[in-house]
Amino acid sequence: MNSTMTSKDTLIIKGGKALNGTIEVRGAKNAVTKIMVATLLSAEPSIIHNVPDIADVQVVGEMIRLVGGKVEQLSEGVLKITPTDLHQADTLELHKIAGTSRIPILFAGPLLHRLKEAKLPTLGGCEIGPRPIDFHLRSLQTMGATINEDEKAITITADSLHGAKIELTYPSVGATEQVLLTSVLASGVTELRNAAIEPEIIDLICVLQKMGAIIDVGINRVITIVGVEKLQGFEHSVLTDRIEVASWACVAAATNGKIMVKGAQQEPMMTFLNTFRKVGGEFGITSEGIEFWRGRPLTGITLETDVHPGFMTDWQQPFVVLITQAEGLSTIHETVYEDRFAFTETLNTMGAKIQLYQECLGGTHCRFENSNHLHSAVISGPTQLTGSNIVVPDLRAGFSYVVAALVAKGKTSISGMKTVERGYEKFETKLRAIGTEIIST
Ligand code: EPZ
Repeated sequence: MNSTMTSKDTLIIKGGKALNGTIEVRGAKNAVTKIMVATLLSAEPSIIHNVPDIADVQVVGEMIRLVGGKVEQLSEGVLKITPTDLHQADTLELHKIAGTSRIPILFAGPLLHRLKEAKLPTLGGCEIGPRPIDFHLRSLQTMGATINEDEKAITITADSLHGAKIELTYPSVGATEQVLLTSVLASGVTELRNAAIEPEIIDLICVLQKMGAIIDVGINRVITIVGVEKLQGFEHSVLTDRIEVASWACVAAATNGKIMVKGAQQEPMMTFLNTFRKVGGEFGITSEGIEFWRGRPLTGITLETDVHPGFMTDWQQPFVVLITQAEGLSTIHETVYEDRFAFTETLNTMGAKIQLYQECLGGTHCRFENSNHLHSAVISGPTQLTGSNIVVPDLRAGFSYVVAALVAKGKTSISGMKTVERGYEKFETKLRAIGTEIIST
């Protein structure tokens, strides 16, 4: 794959001005990477369109190569994957490549079906909580797999896999994808209860249906999969990245500018759009995308993150920065990850007024009640942010620091931008396209 990613790890931004312009957002990181894994379920080639040029796509591409798949870039944003002859990869090599990615565990089902064994590295990912994989492993065991784990690798074996009744204790995105990618070729019927139904999962289900799978998405988070014997290659255009779209919307409203995001789709953004409007953001929807701006002075909100169709946890961080510019008190209760507010400490050093609490603030009680995790935030605004030297802790916090830098008076130097490249395509180019003053290093 040819990549046009930049290699700059530090970005210096001069903030404080309204940003205006048009940018284009392509396929969702959290859909395309799983769709790439789905190609391994068939020996036939598949073609994926609307693929963003981001590090996570490169990583998954390299992992597919390591297990014997051929990955070709046909043109910008178009990948062809031919997984005709698969073999086990060297776990050390996989580990080196996978490093920070959460995707390797999803190779389990396809590799079990094709090779009867999956040797996978232990997992990486953003530092936003412990992020266990117990749901994944339990589901695989329920479908007939045997698991052996040591410090460096997880070895999963199965001569055959069978359908099962599985109930997740929480509607985990990854565990739902795990069950889908494993059950489609398992014998018999799988009934998955308390499944996640994020738009990225529905996109994966669309892909699996194109491949020949039979999957019913029922009411009350029940997904039923009727196993089939063989799947075929597919051609699919990935849904737009709704996390990136929301991030640019926050930039538009926080800087009091106007940004047209080409490719943005209304339906997967509905909850965000309602919330954005409640705090004073405004938008116009066209066939090309969605344009965002500040419709009135921003005001505070009480909000909690949740699984779909709730307000996504990945929208939370840039939204927090937007809310630092809103009049009054806001309360945000994070119910998906227990440790996703650590990034606010840096925002406070830039002038924000954000206080964290262990209690479930805002009305509902979540899994983290009575734990010592600071998973509620109270934000007082508006506050003038000022430039600083800051370090990116994880992907979404990284974008939120960029939003803070764009709003802040003076210069902000942000290091660790490579982490942001994992999930945002042509980041610096897009920033420049909306008029950001970037100081060369
Ligand atoms: C996906 O992570 C996304 N990552 C995350 O985006 C996103 O925040 C998350 O879904 C929720 O929408 C990818 O798609 C690669 P989960 P995933 O399983 O699948 C607990 C980003 O920046 N849990 O839905 O790993 C877990 O600890 C990333 O793009 C278990 O307890 O998330 C968490 O509290 C960050 N046991 C909750 O469930 C398990 O076996 C939800 O996690 C699995 C999860």
